[in-house]
Formats: sequence, structure tokens, C-alpha cells
Amino acid sequence: MTIDEKTGRDLDHLLAGGDSIDGLYEELRSSFDAEKSAIGSEEQHKAFRDRWAGRKNGLLTHANEHWLKKAPRELKPRVGRLQNEAKKHVEAGLAEVKEKLGTSQEAKSSIDVTLPGPPRLLGAHHPLQLVFDEIEHIFHGLGYSIAEGPEIESYYYNFEALNFPADHPAVDEMDTLFLEDGSLLRTHTSPNQIRIMEANQPPLRYLVPGKVYRNDTADSTHSPMFHQVEGFAVDRDITFSDLKGTLDYFLRRFFGRDTRIRFRPSFFPFTEPSAEVDIYWEGRGFIEVLGCGMIDPSVFHHVGYDPEEHFGFAFGLGIDRFAMLKYDITDIQLLFQGDIRFLRQFR
Ligand code: DAH
Repeated sequence: MTIDEKTGRDLDHLLAGGDSIDGLYEELRSSFDAEKSAIGSEEQHKAFRDRWAGRKNGLLTHANEHWLKKAPRELKPRVGRLQNEAKKHVEAGLAEVKEKLGTSQEAKSSIDVTLPGPPRLLGAHHPLQLVFDEIEHIFHGLGYSIAEGPEIESYYYNFEALNFPADHPAVDEMDTLFLEDGSLLRTHTSPNQIRIMEANQPPLRYLVPGKVYRNDTADSTHSPMFHQVEGFAVDRDITFSDLKGTLDYFLRRFFGRDTRIRFRPSFFPFTEPSAEVDIYWEGRGFIEVLGCGMIDPSVFHHVGYDPEEHFGFAFGLGIDRFAMLKYDITDIQLLFQGDIRFLRQFR
């Protein structure tokens, strides 16, 4: 008995009767057809071709070696014919699959890759981000670090530690939005002076951007939520000249080297002396762009620094206002509406 290793059939038996060898080739062809219908790629076609028509180990070769060659002499012509037919069937099938794959390949390459593709909406940087990036870049060059703080603040950090007296009108003036538990939405980024000084020892140079909130009615210049950057520096020998020099340098880099800058005496509870800084704007005259001053000794007391030993300056500015000036935006609301026609003008 000769068991055929590929089909597990008794070859002697099959080859002894002509009908059953017909059936064997029939099976060979139908399993080829079944496999053929599943071929969908160039790679699959190659494996399929090797499996069936491979010179050494292909199924046709196997049939030739084991079925035809072992057939008894009187059956040889018949098995030879079956083998031939099987070979043609396999070759035709392989060619057919190849052609099918070829045409779909052609269909793919008939796409003209030189034509412009469908337009895609590209994102743009928000003008507030562009402005802050530029401010950050300028101060980075001066050795400042960036930090952030919470938008929900305590009365202590937002007012008390910044030396606002308990009955100070600024608590009302700043139109504070209180939460039910007595905490509040920070009205400015200045509380981060306290938070950072509490957690670090001088020398310090920090820039703190963030959203701030006030109970204001929205119009073209007001918004209940807007953006500030707080900046401050603490060291042993910082003077008002350092403050002036720093802000002068910053404003000229931001608005242009010929910008006219004016320091005007002012008052903030957490700085002494305090100033407001104006820049000259063609057609509008001097306009205020930031508040600043030397950090008040009482603030140092709150964070445990010795005011005899340490000095510092601080400043705060509105990013929205800087953006409106820089990009000539006349309505602050445009910054918050997410209108793509507005936003795509900024890259
Ligand atoms: N926090 C002030 C405000 O929101 C702005 C400000 C003024 C910040 C003077 C400062 C400063 O750091 O020194 O109106």
C-alpha cells in the first residue's frame, strides 16, 4: 500500500481503478478553484503560485511524481492526460488571478498624484497663544521660569496675603465672583506671587499666565473671563531701576524698538511704590498696558521672607489687551467666539 502524503489516500488503490484517479484530479482542481477565489493581493498570489506550480514542492509536481509516475503502465496515458489538464487548469487560473490583480493595480496608479489634493483645514495658533508665546520668549531670555496656579482661589491668596485690607474697596472694585464655599474665581494672577514665594527661596524670576474672572458685563472691551500674565523677580539687590529696565526692554521688543513708554505713579496694595505703564499709540495717545511696582514688605512677611534682606518687583498685564493692540482687534469678544474666519488670519 502506498499512502499519498498530500492526500492521505491509498495510491495503489486509486491507481488501480481509472474512475477513482479521475476523482482525485477532480478534487485537486476544485480545491485549486476554492483557494483561487480567496486571492486578493500580490503577496497571496505569489504564495498561491508556489504552492500549486512550484517546481520542487508544488502540488502539480507532487501529482506528477506520485500519481503519474507511479501509475501502472496501462493507466499512464489516462493519468498523463489528467495531469496535463490539471496543469493547464492551474496555469490558466494563476494567469486569471494575476490579471485581476493587475487591473486593480492599474486602477490605483491611474490616480494622478501630481494633481492638488482636496483642501484640508489647517489649524492656526490663537492670537492669545501667539502673544503669550512671544512674551514668554522675551522673558525666557531674561532667565524667567513659567508657572501656573489654580483658577479657584481662596480669599487669602487672592486678597489677604497681597495686603488688601479686609474692607478694601478693591474686593468690590474687582467684581469678585465668589463660590458657595467662600472660595472665589481669582480676579488676577497675582496670588501666584504668594504661592511661588511660599514654595521657593530667592532668587526667583517667574512668569505666570492664566485666566482670570470678574463679574463684568461683556462688551467690546470687557469680558467676565480674560487672561493675564504675572511677572516677578526677587533677589537681594533688586531696585526700581531693574523694574524699569526690564519692562522697557520687554515693551520695546514686543511693540517695537521706537515705542514711547511712560511710567505713571499709581497704587496697588501689594507693591510700594507702584506704577502704571503707558505706551504711546498713534491716533490714541498714551494708553495703559500694565501695572507694576516694588513688592511690598508686608507681602514678604506673609511668605516668611525678610524684607530687610530681600527685594523684588512685580508686574501684571492683560494678554487680551496686548493681542488687541498688536493685531488691531477692536472687539475682545472675537477672541472667545472660535470663529474660524477670524482665527485663520493668525498662523
Ligand atoms: N493684579 C493687578 C490687576 O489685576 C495687576 C498688577 C498690578 C499686577 C501691579 C502686579 C503689579 O504684579 O505689581 O489689576
